[in-house]
Amino acid sequence: MKFKEFKLSKELLASVERSGFEEATPIQEATIPLALAGKDVIGQAQTGTGKTAAFGLPMLEKIDVNKKEIQGLVIAPTRELAIQNQEEIFRLGKDKKIKVAAVYGGADIGRQIRQLKGNPHIVVGTPGRMLDHIKRHTLKLNTVETLVLDEADEMLNMGFLEDIEAIISKVPEQRQTLLFSATMPTAIKNIGVKFMKNPEQVKIKAKGMTAELIDQYYVRTKDYEKFDVMTRLFDVQSPELAIVFGRTKRRVDELSRGLEARGYKAEGIHGDLSQQKRLSVLRSFKKGDLDILVATDVAARGLDISGVTHVYNYDIPQDPESYVHRIGRTGRAGKGGMSVTFVTPNEMNYLRVIEDLTKKRMTPLRPPTEKEAFKGQLGAAMDIIDEKMAANGFDKYLQGADELVEHYSAQDLAALLLKTVAKDPADLVPVKITPERPLPRGKSFNNKGKNHRNNSRNRRDNNYRGRDDRRRNKKDGNFSKGKGSYKKDGQYKNKRRSNDKKHDFVIHNKKEQ
Ligand SMILES: Nc1ncnc2c1ncn2[C@@H]1O[C@H](COP(=O)(O)OP(=O)(O)OP(=O)(O)O)[C@@H](O)[C@H]1O
Ligand SMILES: [Mg+2]
Repeated sequence: MKFKEFKLSKELLASVERSGFEEATPIQEATIPLALAGKDVIGQAQTGTGKTAAFGLPMLEKIDVNKKEIQGLVIAPTRELAIQNQEEIFRLGKDKKIKVAAVYGGADIGRQIRQLKGNPHIVVGTPGRMLDHIKRHTLKLNTVETLVLDEADEMLNMGFLEDIEAIISKVPEQRQTLLFSATMPTAIKNIGVKFMKNPEQVKIKAKGMTAELIDQYYVRTKDYEKFDVMTRLFDVQSPELAIVFGRTKRRVDELSRGLEARGYKAEGIHGDLSQQKRLSVLRSFKKGDLDILVATDVAARGLDISGVTHVYNYDIPQDPESYVHRIGRTGRAGKGGMSVTFVTPNEMNYLRVIEDLTKKRMTPLRPPTEKEAFKGQLGAAMDIIDEKMAANGFDKYLQGADELVEHYSAQDLAALLLKTVAKDPADLVPVKITPERPLPRGKSFNNKGKNHRNNSRNRRDNNYRGRDDRRRNKKDGNFSKGKGSYKKDGQYKNKRRSNDKKHDFVIHNKKEQ
């Protein structure tokens, strides 16, 4: 279905076109007409399928630009997601000249107050900072007509229920409420319904819960072997842009330092870093200055970074929903992707619980041998040499080269060149990662109705939301183009890999073509 077929104003259609969207995605096709008709909507669809525009466009359509008051409110679980939502909604509302402000923790409140004084039509933010503004009387919600809860299940999981209730109590009853996520545990959906009036529930039928374009693998390995196995996998798989998820902040710090020591362009992000640092790391990753982003679940939800080819779960996530969102950072907007999850032998039951939720079996992957990793390195080195050859510019060196050719065979010289360019997995810098206790044996997930604050994830990255939110809640406590993919039986084969592949619906994004 084309966007033109929706009852959207020409300004919005112009912005949609400029964004490069042609066909609506299934969730957009199903929910935009309902939301335009004024209905409350619960929308569930796989990661990376355009849910932001699905709630953003109807909200933008309803806005009267001449009214200088807040008409739309979007609540999101993390600061990075709030910023991203603000950017996407701003982009879609640009031709209609809609002002969108973002409020989130860890950033100058004075600046946000000035922005709020500028009469934005839409405010996007995280619950903690929104409440701060409400208490300071710098954010008034009595004119809000559309309320959006993005990643609703996560916000309730994280213990934001009371905060969200407090915010919603300031929004007029006469409003439209839209609630979106890729995962929607029943208990959470029931809580969501509390805020809504006869919501239409739209669930895009898919074979499984994870995006179909992601090839999912797992590697069974001991905790102390994971790091070496992972870097060997990098050698074999040559990810263009990868996210590595770790369970704790310490893990993320150690992993990013270890990867740097081994020569990878990697940096970490988690809740203990300043907001400025979090944003600058994310910016470098988006620009491609970094090849690997190491993150806690703070980066798992909603973040849309184009070109992420691989997701590595260094630690298997505790919640199956978290798995869906983590791997969903790849395989977005019609692109393919690959995920690899490391599982220690006594965490195998967690793998099964994830598979039960996703309705998809992960393919076992044998850890690559040193020889295979070396082969991968050689392939990558040859690509680099090809590129340098094509770039030319050797004139200054030719005389010296003639001398070398007289003394050495061409084969030895080429071997020396390869040795210089390729990393030899046999002489890697040793990296020791502090062992983490595996997830409790025999216990499976307990994610049902987890709407209180003291769940274990908060303990693991408890300033996920930043200092201000913590205070409030104190009562609880290489890489050339990808190459080297593998056969299903875990045998590697050197083959160029691209993250463009067939998909079940078509997203044409002119921007990226
Ligand atoms: N109709 C469309 N055609 C092409 N690209 C689209 C379309 N709709 C959205 N996109 C793009 O697809 C990407 C993913 O969209 P979005 O972030 O909204 O996904 P999502 O469903 O919210 O994923 P998640 O569950 O991870 O939050 C974005 O880059 C967005 O601009
Ligand atoms: Mg989203």
